[in-house]
Parts: sequence; C-alpha cells; structure tokens
Amino acid sequence: MQEGVNENEIILKEFFEENNSAFDKMKEFGELMMRYNSAIREVRTKFEVLNDELSLKTSRNPIESIQSRVKKPMSIAKKLHKLGKEVTIDNIANELNDVAGIRVICSFIDDIYRVADMLAKQDDIKVVTVKDYIKKPKPNGYRSYHMIVEIPVFFSDSKQIMRVEIQIRTVAMDFWASLEHQMKYKKESADRPEIVAELKSCAEVIAATDARMQGIRKRIESLNEGEEKSNSFLKENFADKAI
Ligand code: GTP
Ligand code: MG
Repeated sequence: MQEGVNENEIILKEFFEENNSAFDKMKEFGELMMRYNSAIREVRTKFEVLNDELSLKTSRNPIESIQSRVKKPMSIAKKLHKLGKEVTIDNIANELNDVAGIRVICSFIDDIYRVADMLAKQDDIKVVTVKDYIKKPKPNGYRSYHMIVEIPVFFSDSKQIMRVEIQIRTVAMDFWASLEHQMKYKKESADRPEIVAELKSCAEVIAATDARMQGIRKRIESLNEGEEKSNSFLKENFADKAI
C-alpha cells in the first residue's frame, strides 16, 4: 500500500474512477467538518468548566445541558444558495456563521447572562456578534441569547480560527423553541394568524414563568443568607471560642 494513503482512500478513489477533483473536494469537505467539530469541542469544554466551577460556588447547576451539531451538507448547500453563493469550501468557511452550532440550556435567565459574559471575557474568544432575543424577543415570541464567536483551534501544523454559533436559553425557552420549530417546519397552516397569536401568547406565559422562577430562587437565597448570618451571630456571641 502507498505510504500515507489509507485503504478507504483507495476504495473511494476507485469509486470516483480516478475523478480526483470530486474526490479532493469530498476530502477537503471532510477536513473542514472535522475542524468545526473540534471547535465545538473547545467551546463545549469551556461551558463545562464554567458549570463545574459555578456549581461548586452556588451548590446548583447553572447549565442544565449542552447540545451541539455540525450543519448537514444539504442545509449548508441550501443556505449558500439562499445567499446567492456557490457551494465551495471557501464559501462554507467564509460566508456561514452557523456551520458549528452549540446550544446551552440554562436553569434561570440570570445564568444565561452570567455564562455568556464569562465566556466573552476569555482572552482566546472573540465575540463577532450578539443577538439578544431575550431583551428583544422576535415578533413570534422566540427568546434566546445568540452569539457568534471565533476561537483558535490548534491542529498538527496550523492554528485555525473557527467560527461557532452559540444559542443560550432557559429550559422553558428551549421547550417553546423546540415545539415551535417542529410545528413551523411541518405545516403551512402554522402561519395562520390565530396560530401565530396563540404561540406568541404561550411564549409570553413561559417568559413570565421564567421570571417568577428566578424570583423564587432569589427569595430562597436571601432567606438562606439571613439564616446563615443569624447562625454566625449566635456562634460569635454565645458559643465558646476555640483557643
Ligand atoms: P438563520 O438563517 O435561520 O440561521 O438565522 P440568522 O442567520 O438570521 O440568525 P438568528 O440568530 O436570527 O437565528 C439563528 C438560529 O436561531 C436559527 O437557525 C434557529 O436555530 C434559531 N431561531 C431563530 N429564530 C427562531 C424562531 O423563530 N424559532 C425557532 N424555533 N428557532 C429560531
Ligand atoms: Mg442557522
């Protein structure tokens, strides 16, 4: 066997009947997707580290779960087509911001801003754009905090700056967005005004519930603080001190 060429490559080359241009394109595409997958791993690790540290400090998990995906070839082609661009490796890398996507599901609204801010402050992360659909929800009621970031990823012989789309939302916002997405993409009639209005109203109920849940958490936290303070007052003033 030729050195540096694996068996799969030989089989694929035969399949393409030595049509090297198609083969090379496929190989280049595979390499680009590998780089996006690596970028996702880097960003995911950053969120996992933040969650571990904040969990120790606050005794609860600010991040409930993390999902990620690399955009499928069909969606990549469709999006480039929509932008009026040819489907080339360069255009995939330069024109699209969401080939690598990561979704961070938080427990409470303030957790979203806390983890987003902590990520943005890391010196290897460059924030390209922020869209705050929580402060300014979309007209249909969609809420989420979106960031496009660039992160350097180190490979065997180069450092590549990779772009990653990050969506940060609460469990409740995610519940709404998942169901709305399923319904919207399946049926034309989902555009009917009464359905749009009903979905928007659900989004508002959910947003109000998110705000109430955060309020409850804050009340519990301040009650606990009060208890801790009075415990330490009792210890300080009425218990024997260890000498
Ligand atoms: P896309 O071309 O759809 O990627 O949108 P964009 O480039 O204008 O960016 P934006 O930040 O608005 O949206 C990015 C992603 O957020 C989308 O691909 C969806 O995953 C999600 N999103 C945005 N709007 C909605 C919405 O109304 N409903 C749901 N379910 N998801 C949405
Ligand atoms: Mg997208």
